[in-house]
Amino acid sequence: MGVSDQYRQGSLSRNPKPAHFLPFRDTDAPANLPNRYWGFMAVSMTDSSHDRLLIIDFGSQVTQLIARRLRELNVYCEIHPFNKVDAAFLERFAPKAVILSGGPSSVIDAGSPRPPEALFSLGVPVLGICYGQQVMMQMLGGQVETGHGTAEFGRAYVTPQASLPLLDGWFADGDEQVWMSHGDHVARIAPGFAVYGTSPNAPFAITADPARHFYAVQFHPEVHHTPNGARLYENFVRLAGFTGDWTMGAYREEAIRRIREQVGDAKVICGLSGGVDSSVAAVLIHEAIGDQLTCVFVDHGLLRLNEAEEVVEMFRDHYNMPLIHADERELFLGELDGVSDPETKRKIIGKLFIDVFQKHAAEVGGAKFLAQGTLYPDVIESVSFSGGPSATIKSHHNVGGLPEKMGLKLVEPLRELFKDEVRALGRELGLPDSFIGRHPFPGPGLAIRCPGEITREKLEILRKADAVYIDQIRKHGLYDDIWQAFVAILPVRTVGVMGDGRTYDFACALRAVTSVDGMTADYYPFSHEFLGETATRIINEVEGINRVTYDITSKPPGTIEWE
Ligand code: XMP
Repeated sequence: MGVSDQYRQGSLSRNPKPAHFLPFRDTDAPANLPNRYWGFMAVSMTDSSHDRLLIIDFGSQVTQLIARRLRELNVYCEIHPFNKVDAAFLERFAPKAVILSGGPSSVIDAGSPRPPEALFSLGVPVLGICYGQQVMMQMLGGQVETGHGTAEFGRAYVTPQASLPLLDGWFADGDEQVWMSHGDHVARIAPGFAVYGTSPNAPFAITADPARHFYAVQFHPEVHHTPNGARLYENFVRLAGFTGDWTMGAYREEAIRRIREQVGDAKVICGLSGGVDSSVAAVLIHEAIGDQLTCVFVDHGLLRLNEAEEVVEMFRDHYNMPLIHADERELFLGELDGVSDPETKRKIIGKLFIDVFQKHAAEVGGAKFLAQGTLYPDVIESVSFSGGPSATIKSHHNVGGLPEKMGLKLVEPLRELFKDEVRALGRELGLPDSFIGRHPFPGPGLAIRCPGEITREKLEILRKADAVYIDQIRKHGLYDDIWQAFVAILPVRTVGVMGDGRTYDFACALRAVTSVDGMTADYYPFSHEFLGETATRIINEVEGINRVTYDITSKPPGTIEWE
């Protein structure tokens, strides 16, 4: 079950913003990142043989973008919440550099979050961002103030004051655009620091103590709205001596080692949906433990044309993986017979899926682990500043409480990765590009693209129309520009004329959207030529459809799927 299922089932609210919600959304956010306040993730790979960078999280909405920027530089990093990082942790972790994230607190408030004092005597470079900058100044002998004129939200321009290796490549064309989001600001810098950049409301926008390699910036270099921000991270990791050894190849080796360690000689089962995440997880785990892994692929009769065959062929025949192909089409379609309410459809499918998965998993006998393709954005917990990290971990909802029900432990080898990194790992593992780049497909499948009652006849027509539409999109080279495209078959028949005869067939709607994370979306601006050609092909090639419409609703107010 994905995050979107939880939205639908009401276990996640659509927009749970905290009081200190940062007033921007980063359009460069990783795919699949829901529009909500993500705090931190705490994965532990402290046995990594790579140089490690530690990000101490103070609760910024965009901390994970820091991690993303670093991974783009092939630097291995982990994010840990401030209240889990003490001197002993630092010693164990042995970071080669540390970044202090932004956060919604005010350093002036009693009890506001701090890193351990020991951080500043580790002898490693430290970069403070926004709240991280302020906390550095406060702890190292400077001063932060709040009040009229200290706040700055949104776009700002930083003017250089002196040159600094951290700023190599900056200010080539004059002032640099940055994104600010702060209420307080630094009023006096700490001893040893000097000013390297100022903005109208941040006299200490960039400060540094180059001798100790302490750097502090008031803005957010990790977001898209600081166009040259990636360069700043590049300079920071170069100054810290990182060699950029965290590649997908290295990740693959380490992940395999960790899976072997975790699982030993126990059996693992994996629900394979044919989507990218579960596929990559399955291939990786199979590489690690071979036939100790069995995949269960549930065909609920709501898949696209040839989808079941393709998945089974690829995993069983090509990868030689033990795979249970659970053909449960009759069961699902039988239970859905006569049901037209969208929520009832979803609930029926969700419940049956769990029952069926459980039944087939039991055939494996003695499995101790359940593998899931949980990604980084699914793992992140939100931070509650009064009581520390809250315990709402999303990953465990992915298969609807199955692990608890079945007494299984989880294997989640993609927990540290963003969607695009999972795709890169998939390529590294030799999965075909055509598979890796597939558009998302919802768990309830075609059921939610068939408003009204689901019949076998309608599903058949829908499959064919969808295949023609996707073929058109691929032929025109548009597939990778589109987040998701599909056909919905409408619950109306309309009159048409073909040849000299009257037709009375179904109408369908084409849907194609662009999106960053699926939470908001725009309809895709196809040319009229493309739309006309596609409509003609569908009507000519798909018996049962005589009218084609194009859905130009964005999200909001629409949703991507029709139900
Ligand atoms: P909506 O329709 O909510 O869809 O705008 C947003 C994204 O989520 C997908 N989606 C689902 N994925 N189970 C899933 O795994 C579901 O129940 C589900 N419902 C919607 C949808 O395809 C789109 O990518």
